[in-house]
Amino acid sequence: MAKAKSKQTPKESHRVATTNDIEVSTYLGIAKKLGEEQPATPQEAVSGAEREAIIVLDFGSQYNMLIARRVRECQVYCELLPHDTPWEKIAPLNPRGFILSGGPASVYEPNAPQAPAYIYESGLPVLGICYGMQVITRQLGGKVTPGTKREYGHAVLHLSDMDSPLFADLPDPTTVWMSHADKIAEMPQGFSAIAHTENSPFAVMSDQKGIFGLQFHPEVAHTPEGKRILRNFVYRVCGCKGNWTMGNFVNDSITRIKEQVGDGKVINALSGGVDSSVVATLIHRAIGDQLTCIFVNNGLLRHEEAERTLKVFRQNLGMNIIYVDAIDRFLERLKGVIDPEQKRKIIGGEFIRVFEEEADRIGKVDFLAQGTLYPDVIESVSSVSTASVKIKTHHNVGGLPANMKLKLLEPLRYLFKDEVRQVGLELGLPEEMVWRQPFPGPGLAIRIIGEVTGDKLEILRNADWVVMDEVKKAKMYRQLWQSFAVLTDVRSVGVMGDYRTYGYLVAIRAITSEDAMTADWARLPYDLLARISNRIVNEVPGVNRVVYDITSKPPSTIEWE
Ligand code: XMP
Repeated sequence: MAKAKSKQTPKESHRVATTNDIEVSTYLGIAKKLGEEQPATPQEAVSGAEREAIIVLDFGSQYNMLIARRVRECQVYCELLPHDTPWEKIAPLNPRGFILSGGPASVYEPNAPQAPAYIYESGLPVLGICYGMQVITRQLGGKVTPGTKREYGHAVLHLSDMDSPLFADLPDPTTVWMSHADKIAEMPQGFSAIAHTENSPFAVMSDQKGIFGLQFHPEVAHTPEGKRILRNFVYRVCGCKGNWTMGNFVNDSITRIKEQVGDGKVINALSGGVDSSVVATLIHRAIGDQLTCIFVNNGLLRHEEAERTLKVFRQNLGMNIIYVDAIDRFLERLKGVIDPEQKRKIIGGEFIRVFEEEADRIGKVDFLAQGTLYPDVIESVSSVSTASVKIKTHHNVGGLPANMKLKLLEPLRYLFKDEVRQVGLELGLPEEMVWRQPFPGPGLAIRIIGEVTGDKLEILRNADWVVMDEVKKAKMYRQLWQSFAVLTDVRSVGVMGDYRTYGYLVAIRAITSEDAMTADWARLPYDLLARISNRIVNEVPGVNRVVYDITSKPPSTIEWE
């Protein structure tokens, strides 16, 4: 699929596209000196007896992860693997069918990626999407013509074989999303066209043996019936049962964690974010007090954040938590620092030191639990520029002591973020926690422009609380990717009663986004903005002016520092 230009993120950005816990887990990942212990193998994500999976072979389209997500939404386990993955790696997953993804290459290019032979020899159903369809065509003896003109956008799909299992319950015609240049000129022998659009006579092709090709993209939201097509493929063509539910996942994980850990000890850095909270709760369900969580209060958290997190985990869930009040330590180290990257480096380094000291006190520990998610796994397979590499370069943090040889425990390694939230709900975590907006590891320090001081933190905490409170009251919290206040270092003149004031300028940032790589400023209702502004200037001493940030990313970033 073509890459939309506006969606590019500047390469030189020092920022990391993150989940809210990535900071913690990345520091720890680096600390652990990656590579010593290999985490769970893929097949461990799927339960034994009922194991079934759809494998998406990755030919490089930027939306490939979406295919896997869509299949999983049909309650069928799905993995995205490189297109040249050997059969030995796939067989243990018990594949029921393959999807060949789209990709930027052209099948006639010298090094154009091909599908491995097992795709055609295994007898399992295959669905080729866009480039995937062209690969099938080329490899099975059909012809693909290099496109001179890209067909991009909506097209009307007319179905000619209503009996095809792929089209069950589909309206005819139906709208689909096209994005291709090359085209099928001649189908391989044994194939017939079962649907067409105005520009593509072979928009969908199939043979009698369960091999299908789609010229369009069923995985994107612009193809309204796309999910039904994928559903038909996995259930009606591949015969999947659909046992991938988060309830099953929780039960299987608990068994697996028990087996893996035995009577060992596990530590986890709890941040209060979704991933680390779900990891901790899941592991705690499995092994109870063998888990110790370390919660570091760096003084850069939001209003009541530490208290709330402790309440949930210590009081409600009865977990073993070491609470570390490191507020003064962090503030001392941040004194006089104004450079954003310097702040990050100091906070990251200090976090490791605190964690190290506390972990040392616990004595012998066997496992380090981490909230690694599937997108991080895919990213690290397909590219070297992982979050840890980037953070490592910029922050240059140290490692855990050499004598702490920890194995990694990463029970969410095969889950997408939305699945993690479902697991959280399944485990009974409060909605407030499960739906928490991302919060950066360096916390409020990168939302205070200039030096971080106790006074400024207090001002920002109060202003931020108003934003969160009002956004939640307006029932907009979940639809916004992030919404928060920034304390600028600008001061301006105001008037309150009979007095002139000289106070801080607070900026409000509220954005919508899918993945933090790009973002749009949220069109918050004026009334909501008015309430936020009024309350901040009235309730937060030291602030006399509020502005709303109306820039998107790119060119701005989400955070101000
Ligand atoms: P930017 O500001 O780069 O932010 O558009 C993208 C996403 O990443 C978060 N962010 C961070 N998260 N450590 C983190 O854990 C960081 O240093 C950091 N900087 C930005 C930001 O909140 C947004 O969700």
